[in-house]
Amino acid sequence: MATPCPVRHIAFIMDGNGRWAKKRGMPREYGHREGAKAFQRVVEYCGEIGIAYVTVYAFSTENWKRPEHEVKAIMQLFTEYMSEAFRVFAEKGLRIRFIGNRDRFDADFVAEMEKLERDSAGNEKVLNVAFNYGGREEILQAACRVQKQGKELTEENISAALYTAPCPEPDLIVRTGGEMRISNFLLWQSAYAELYFTDTLWPDMREKDVDAAVAAFRKRNRRYGGV
Ligand code: IPE
Ligand code: IPE
Ligand code: MG
Repeated sequence: MATPCPVRHIAFIMDGNGRWAKKRGMPREYGHREGAKAFQRVVEYCGEIGIAYVTVYAFSTENWKRPEHEVKAIMQLFTEYMSEAFRVFAEKGLRIRFIGNRDRFDADFVAEMEKLERDSAGNEKVLNVAFNYGGREEILQAACRVQKQGKELTEENISAALYTAPCPEPDLIVRTGGEMRISNFLLWQSAYAELYFTDTLWPDMREKDVDAAVAAFRKRNRRYGGV
């Protein structure tokens, strides 16, 4: 029998869609469409190899700075996914959770998110989709929530008020696309995450690339400040 996957929670910064499209002389939107296919492939594979929690960074609080047509295309893709890929994952046994700030979305959009979350709430494996997500915003809203509840500002209380709660912290954060930065992703939760960077552009991400990231993780020595 194969050794069980040591990664309980894997998170992906799905970067490189625009460059992937540009290399092919296509508009950036085309890259996002291909990136969405890679998302399906990768999430499915993570389930197959026994990873219990998957988090994907789909749209950041900073991504609104992009040209309006690109933002529109991403929103359109996301809307399609509510009734397609996310729905299929929910039916296949994933618990879908949207993490991020919902204030900027219209009521119908939020209602769709909530419906997917409700319908899949009984499933065991978790897929967190970070959409209009920013790590700083998340920490700030958590601190405000703790204060509003009249509780003490402790690490434990903040952790419990994060969008990702009660998910365990990520063991491994994978960023595709060659940049070596976090770009405001899971700032609080990544304190002791292992980081893995690859030049592979997100639309090219395949099962073997997930295997390579997990293999690299197996070699890491996690000390958490100890010896
Ligand atoms: C990641 O790919 C997807 C989003 C941020 C929505 P990019 O669109 O950032 O692709 P590059 O980095 O420009 O190639
Ligand atoms: C990070 O990618 C955000 C997502 C993948 C959703 P960006 O392309 O926005 O990050 P920067 O601009 O290179 O830091
Ligand atoms: Mg990018």
